[in-house]
Amino acid sequence: MNRQILLAARPVGFPKETDFRLQEAPIPEPGEGEFLVGVRWLSVDPYMRGRMNAERSYAPSVNLGDVMVGGAAGRVLKSRQAGFSEGDYVMGMFGWQEYAVTDGKGVRKLDPAVAPVSTSLGVLGMPGLTAYFGLLTVGEAKAGETVVVSGAAGAVGSYVGQIAKIHGCRVVGIAGSDDKVKWLKDDLGFDAVLNYKTTTDYRGALKELCPQGIDVYFENVGGPISDAAFLLLNPRARVPVCGQVALYSAGKEEMGPRLLMQILVKQVKVEGFLVFQFASRYGEGLTKLTEWVRSGQLKYKETVTDGIENAPQAFLSMLRGGNTGKQLVRISNA
Ligand SMILES: NC(=O)c1ccc[n+]([C@@H]2O[C@H](COP(=O)([O-])OP(=O)(O)OC[C@H]3O[C@@H](n4cnc5c(N)ncnc54)[C@H](OP(=O)(O)O)[C@@H]3O)[C@@H](O)[C@H]2O)c1
Repeated sequence: MNRQILLAARPVGFPKETDFRLQEAPIPEPGEGEFLVGVRWLSVDPYMRGRMNAERSYAPSVNLGDVMVGGAAGRVLKSRQAGFSEGDYVMGMFGWQEYAVTDGKGVRKLDPAVAPVSTSLGVLGMPGLTAYFGLLTVGEAKAGETVVVSGAAGAVGSYVGQIAKIHGCRVVGIAGSDDKVKWLKDDLGFDAVLNYKTTTDYRGALKELCPQGIDVYFENVGGPISDAAFLLLNPRARVPVCGQVALYSAGKEEMGPRLLMQILVKQVKVEGFLVFQFASRYGEGLTKLTEWVRSGQLKYKETVTDGIENAPQAFLSMLRGGNTGKQLVRISNA
């Protein structure tokens, strides 16, 4: 049987396990031009919170009763598609389920000799590309500059900090536990890291850690952390707005200080971006990221939860900061 996780209810505020439902369905048969994938790795990501809402944002909502949307990696089990053969490793938007049938559109073939296939959902996948294009193209980070990244110990944040180090920047992270702070400093080479859960004066603490001010603030979280970072931006600073994870379940719009005067007088560039806008340059990004992973300059960590039945719990844990690096769900059916 194919175990699937469906969206059972639209969350109000922070999602709950009861917003999801496990269903067993027959393993689907591929038709002409299609192939069957046995999923091994499922990604849970913050954007999925938005897909649970009724209102469409930049991408369609998941309908109630539908399989939750998500990227996954696995192996081709049966193929009636000339471009894919049994045994090929692939990644695609297969959803929260153990088996998926696809026509191959948007599916990427993977070479396990280059890197473990799970990395196609993290450092060598969408989060890695987000860090790469967000920091270098949107953020225009340059050697000698101070880069501050929030959500620093998550997938995107941990890659951003390391890519900034590779480019000769001074890197300051913001993360939610002492263990995360230690990992970022000791293992990933961040210059300084702030634990926002044990700090009340974000501005004062960041000011101390950024004596030369901030040239790039890579925004992952929103709320009071970004308010503090904005006040320390240098003239001509750049703010790639990548995510607002602190606000996804907020329910109502948050009011904060009005910071447009800072942006005006310091001539700051604040630019929202979606990784998909760089689709035509994914080849370049993946080549660079792969080079850095293979040379050991770009390290990655995975937090793994076993079993499709535990995907909701893994998703909720990630939203609460239970992950270090990329949160994944491992499925051992294939
Ligand atoms: N623009 C794009 O195309 C794009 C693509 C991918 C991801 N994103 C965004 O990038 C950000 C990171 O995504 P990811 O996949 O790498 O997830 P992630 O960082 O691996 O996981 C989410 C992290 O958010 C932190 N967090 C949760 N609530 C928070 C709060 N109230 N304040 C501060 N931090 C909080 C938690 O770490 P702590 O322990 O530190 O709290 C948690 O580990 C998200 O905002 C996501 O939406 C954007």
